Amino acid sequence: MKRMKTAYTAGLALLGLVLASGCHRDMYDQPKYEPYDQSTFFTDQKADRQPVTGTVARGQLALDDAFYRGAVNGKPVPNIPPAALARFANTRDMLRRGQAQYNTFCQPCHGESGYGNGMIAQRGLSQRRQVPTYHSPRLRDIEDGHFYDVITNGFGVMYPYSSRIAPEDRWAVVAYIRALQLSQNARPSDMPAEARQRLLRGENPNVAPGAAATTGTTSTNE
Ligand code: HEC
Repeated sequence: MKRMKTAYTAGLALLGLVLASGCHRDMYDQPKYEPYDQSTFFTDQKADRQPVTGTVARGQLALDDAFYRGAVNGKPVPNIPPAALARFANTRDMLRRGQAQYNTFCQPCHGESGYGNGMIAQRGLSQRRQVPTYHSPRLRDIEDGHFYDVITNGFGVMYPYSSRIAPEDRWAVVAYIRALQLSQNARPSDMPAEARQRLLRGENPNVAPGAAATTGTTSTNE
């Protein structure tokens, strides 16, 4: 009987403690703004404040204009910057990456070889403005930085890809577009002497004699 009474008292005390602590709501009810609250203090009436101009989030400092913007002092860089090349083990890896990204994001409109005849263009889904070919004298002569800018910020009716393609991958796409352009506008003198000899003999210039003919076509995909 005594034991029960003790337990009862202890239980009551515990309940009292819980209730008493529940009454201390001053941390909870302190004067503070909730997200998206209205404020009478600031002139724009918003409690949420913008970061101070020029604030850079940790890990997002992008000082290299050539690499991150494709332009220095507002002028497009003529060539792919070294910082972009340094992100890849070698140019072949870079081109492979560029090819994969291009075929994912650009090929549906611009076509596999860059003539502007991708399936979306063929089906008339891009009717407002024709998808241009990359094989025009103007785009052949234009700076590498211009392609980077088009991918980053869009161009005319073409939407930007900055949220989908990382800076180094944008440069890889630029490299691949250059490869596509070369593939449609090469002179025999652009080929290595050995490959040129094979071509003159009527052989596949891509395959070294005796090598397994795994790349047995002259497709633009390799
Ligand atoms: C949905 C279709 C579509 C996709 C996808 C697309 N483009 Fe375009 N692109 C266009 C159209 C349409 C234009 C012409 C825009 C205009 O003239 O207003 C254009 C124009 C261009 C130009 C020409 C800029 C100039 O100076 O004339 C380049 C370069 C280009 N795109 C590159 C790319 C690259 C690289 C990608 C992939 C990352 C891509 N595009 C993805 C439709 C597309």
